[in-house]
Amino acid sequence: MSDLIASRLRDVPDFPRTGVVFKDITPLLGDGDAFGEVVRALAARHTQGESRVDVVAGVEARGFIIGAALAHELGVGFVPVRKAGKLPGETVQSTYDLEYGSATIEVHVDAVTPGQRVLLVDDVLATGGTAIAAWDLLTRCGADVVELTTIVELAFLDGRAAMGERAVHALHVVGGADA
Ligand code: PRP
Ligand code: MG
Repeated sequence: MSDLIASRLRDVPDFPRTGVVFKDITPLLGDGDAFGEVVRALAARHTQGESRVDVVAGVEARGFIIGAALAHELGVGFVPVRKAGKLPGETVQSTYDLEYGSATIEVHVDAVTPGQRVLLVDDVLATGGTAIAAWDLLTRCGADVVELTTIVELAFLDGRAAMGERAVHALHVVGGADA
């Protein structure tokens, strides 16, 4: 799986800023067989017994692409964690630093019911800023977030350490041993 993902990632130097090598997942998304394998691999960890989840949450924008497919594969609903200003209902929000710049994300306060088991998904774990903000927003709404699951982890940015006690799973690790 790790080799398959590596073969479908495209490194784009100096995007969006000089010195940043952007990990572009669009070749993976554009390959139906590979995309399907990735979604099934992410889902496989959460189909049995106590590892089951009640809902999938994904972070706008790329987390929506993976998250909706993953929710469908698991047969559960999807909770969008959106960039600020897009959700119409009452929200809680958080501002955090990105590898480049900062962002504010928010979620509807009633998006989850207390104690619901939530699987948080995003395409990439970099510094962890996005995932920590999303995880903690969902927790504030009463969710029991069980794991952050991602396709790619950029280990050299130490996001896993920043996540602390929050569980992390990645199918492909760049700059570290495969998980
Ligand atoms: C990217 C990526 C992750 C996040 C990871 O999102 O999709 O969500 O950065 O970085 P971090 O671990 O340092 O927080 P970004 O908001 O840049 O773009 P997107 O809207 O295309 O998902
Ligand atoms: Mg993102």
